[in-house]
Amino acid sequence: MQEQSHVVARNRTEGYIIECDGDRATIAAIAGPSVTASEDYWAVGQLISVRVGENRLVGLIHKVDMPDALWKKDADNVIHIHIELIGEVRSTPDGKSAFSSGISQYPHMGAIAHRIRASDLAAIYAASERKTVSIGSLTQDDSIPALISVDDLLSRHFAVVGTTGVGKSSAVTLLLRKVVAERPDVRVLILDPHNEFATAFPDHAIVIDPANLDLPFWMFRLEEFADVVFRGREPNAGEMDALRDMIQLARERFRMADSQASPLLRRRERDNRAVTADTPIPYRISDLLALINERTGQLDGKAERPHLKALKARLESIINDPRFRFMFAASTIADTMRQTISRIFRVPQDGRPICVFQLSGLPSEVVNAVASVLCRLAFDLAASSDGNIQTLVVCEEAHRYIPADPDAGFWPTRQAIARIAKEGRKYGVYLGVITQRPGELDPTILSQCNTVFAMRLGNERDQQIIKGAISGAARSMINFLSSIANREAIAFGEALSTPMRMTFETIPASKLPGAHMQEQQQLMRAGDRRVSLESVIERLRHFDNAATDPSEPFDYEPVVMEPAEEQRPSIPPLLPLDPDQRMPLPAAESDWRMRHAETREEHLRSIEKQQSRANDLVRSFRHDRN
Ligand SMILES: Nc1ncnc2c1ncn2[C@@H]1O[C@H](COP(=O)(O)OP(=O)(O)OP(=O)(O)O)[C@@H](O)[C@H]1O
Ligand SMILES: [Mg+2]
Repeated sequence: MQEQSHVVARNRTEGYIIECDGDRATIAAIAGPSVTASEDYWAVGQLISVRVGENRLVGLIHKVDMPDALWKKDADNVIHIHIELIGEVRSTPDGKSAFSSGISQYPHMGAIAHRIRASDLAAIYAASERKTVSIGSLTQDDSIPALISVDDLLSRHFAVVGTTGVGKSSAVTLLLRKVVAERPDVRVLILDPHNEFATAFPDHAIVIDPANLDLPFWMFRLEEFADVVFRGREPNAGEMDALRDMIQLARERFRMADSQASPLLRRRERDNRAVTADTPIPYRISDLLALINERTGQLDGKAERPHLKALKARLESIINDPRFRFMFAASTIADTMRQTISRIFRVPQDGRPICVFQLSGLPSEVVNAVASVLCRLAFDLAASSDGNIQTLVVCEEAHRYIPADPDAGFWPTRQAIARIAKEGRKYGVYLGVITQRPGELDPTILSQCNTVFAMRLGNERDQQIIKGAISGAARSMINFLSSIANREAIAFGEALSTPMRMTFETIPASKLPGAHMQEQQQLMRAGDRRVSLESVIERLRHFDNAATDPSEPFDYEPVVMEPAEEQRPSIPPLLPLDPDQRMPLPAAESDWRMRHAETREEHLRSIEKQQSRANDLVRSFRHDRN
């Protein structure tokens, strides 16, 4: 019934094939007063059908012109419609229609063409045997849902591209809602550079911002930590060498101390696994500083000394910088990897499978290092759990992390994302990339994204890149990329049975990404709100966290050495070979001891034990160095 009314409403008319060249064909038709078809009947972007034997070929109109280039008003005109054949619809024995891409029989001259029937259109976009969900509707016919397979969307990675403001982030929130509904086993980590996704998932996400983030420094690999220490700049080679050695020693030192304390670890210790500067076991920042001090002492007058001094100064400056609290603020130096991972990667999910990781409050120079740590962990977790911890990592503004220019960006982040793109599928780590500038994105990453939602793209180069990604006859759909509306996309790839031009579902205003900012702006416009310049300035300085309501009074309490001191170790930070050289403990450390040591005797005994272990280490260290 619906189909009937549809056909009548469209007022079908006919055209005839006059040329066919591979998957391209031309139709001649009449336009003018004797034809009662709607004006857009033969318009670019429409799908048409050509009857060939029992089958109907499906073509997409990519160009319409007139052979004599002259429009006669009030008279019939001959027009030429150029189509690209994208597949064919067959009637199955049970009376249904089935679509397949590929053409079994090409059209003969004079074959009749007309606008596609709704039932054929539905057959083209119907799911085959795959389980699918609807994310919107076809632009050509909004009664037909745009269906995607969530499993295929995930397993082969996806990209959402489009110029600013076309609705990429909104489309992604829609996709993510479908993902978490369909795949309760998958968790989602959104790297959110503009702090806009929190409002989109009020019931499904936890939000991590720099104020509530605890990402201990020891979870950073050497390169990542160096990126923080050198504030995103090229590390000095001498300092980098020293940092590598000292971190390795500090990690070894912690492991030895810890293995004494824990029989379990002691057993592990016997495996004698090598510790490197990258091994993700904790170490104490005070050990690191102490090792640098010792080394500086040993190198009296040698050329390496200035490097060590500079390195120490850098380390102290980040430890004391309140913006880096998220790395150094842990109240203990226990192995907190479990808590950190459990929170960020939602294990267990506790009903909130999405983690919105807000990056905009982080010091800009460490965003790359943090992104690297997170992407690396996502992969390692999945691989180490044999695919039991599956994560979809969503990278907004992906061209920032994985730029096309191989010399730009931070290579560990690039490497971590590339690893997910190339090998993630095996372990259940999936990638969703969003970018305004596909031309600025590493092409190898884009080529790993097997489903693409291409929204409006003005730039010619960006269009060409997307055109290169779409295969088959539907390539001419990409020609519309510069002119499609907001919220519309040309979607193609693994998750869809056929490329489609579609419009995303409408999302309620309160659940759009960045809804809180829109709300603030509305209030400002209505004159209901005044700006608190103080809080704006505080946020400018990154002292405050980005999630704080700017209308709240500012109550920043400067925390300087306290967090780092809290990590002070149970072994002395300095490892004197000669007791006379021993330096007094800093006051904060004595306090820490007083608070934490059970009895003075116990405390002294433990110091003694640790000192002898530490001395051994230093001896071996010196031995290594000489
Ligand atoms: N599916 C949708 N439902 C309702 N409104 C939408 C939808 N998609 C987009 N919009 C509207 O378009 C606006 C811009 O969308 P969005 O922020 O998703 O664009 P964007 O492409 O991510 O932009 P940018 O490149 O600046 O990040 C939204 O604030 C919203 O008003
Ligand atoms: Mg956006």
